Amino acid sequence: MNIIWKSIRPYGRVLKALEGFMYDLKRFYKYAGWRINMSDKDVRNYYSVKVYHSLEKSLSYKNRNIGSGWTDAFLILEAIEYALKSKEIAFHDYLAYERLIQFINHPDNANTENAKKIRSRLKETKYFQNRETTPATFNYKESDYQKGILSKPEDFFFSRFSLREFKDEIVDEDIIKHAVKLAIKSPSVCNRQPWHIYHITDKITKEKALKYQAGNRGFGDKIPNLIIVTTDLRAFIAGQEHYQHWIDGGMFSMSFIWALHSLGIASCCLNWSQSPSNDKAFRKLINIHPAHTISMMIAVGKPDTENIVCSSKRRPLQEVYTFIDSNKGEEG
Ligand SMILES: Cc1cc2nc3c(=O)[nH]c(=O)nc-3n(C[C@H](O)[C@H](O)[C@H](O)COP(=O)(O)O)c2cc1C
Repeated sequence: MNIIWKSIRPYGRVLKALEGFMYDLKRFYKYAGWRINMSDKDVRNYYSVKVYHSLEKSLSYKNRNIGSGWTDAFLILEAIEYALKSKEIAFHDYLAYERLIQFINHPDNANTENAKKIRSRLKETKYFQNRETTPATFNYKESDYQKGILSKPEDFFFSRFSLREFKDEIVDEDIIKHAVKLAIKSPSVCNRQPWHIYHITDKITKEKALKYQAGNRGFGDKIPNLIIVTTDLRAFIAGQEHYQHWIDGGMFSMSFIWALHSLGIASCCLNWSQSPSNDKAFRKLINIHPAHTISMMIAVGKPDTENIVCSSKRRPLQEVYTFIDSNKGEEG
């Protein structure tokens, strides 16, 4: 019996994975931005940044391909026209407008027929006026990059450990917000910034929330601030982007943890590898927006004067690193 169970059990895991894939597929179908519904402010804004970012890139190249970018310029124009119709204008709508103006006014483009067409369609611009404008690109020196150099990177990177027991004190919301602001500088696909962060300090809500997460056993009741990192599925349009929200959520989470670390605040990731039923029940409890996918929870708190941490040794470099030597590729 034991042998049979042992041989069947791994297949159970694959079935669980299948259940998860189906759940993710259903969520992608229901909430992702593939319909490009431009009258939905959020979908339109994610779409706009995706498109106007390509204009920013086109304007940033030292050797520009003159004549390129017009397809995107007309797509942005359409998005702006939708925004004007809806009169619900948000952050990326404004930037889309700015980038389009900068693109059509670029010396390479200003006198083209396309620029004239766009100008004539961009008549009703009062919603976009009287705002401080930002450049699409700017010069950034080598010395600017060097401001990020740490004299001893090891001091920063190797002094972070996941902490599971904290000072019995809630971290000030301003510190959390500061760390979120720093972490928002994380790269994201086409700069879509699909993140949404939920922050809980209320004891009862934390307790209820942590019941859904197995990895906090033994320390859940000592977590002062609980963070839930989510990404907005509406930001993802192409079918191939079905995993992108997990990636962007992971990128943000790590930056947030480093940001906290730079502010002297400790943290511990709490995985959200969940069954569909737990995910559904949890999002109902916390009132998570239906389109927001949970990446992970993060326990946050101040380190105590004395702490005991797991050593969590790292693998040797040679196990995780391969240099692809193309000269040797064909041999043997
Ligand atoms: C996505 C993710 C989920 C994690 N989930 C848990 C968890 O549920 N409970 C826990 O105690 N630690 C959790 N951890 C923390 C890891 O155990 C820890 O990062 C690892 O052992 C390395 O140790 P260090 O962070 O101290 O360097 C998680 C880490 C990651 C990245």
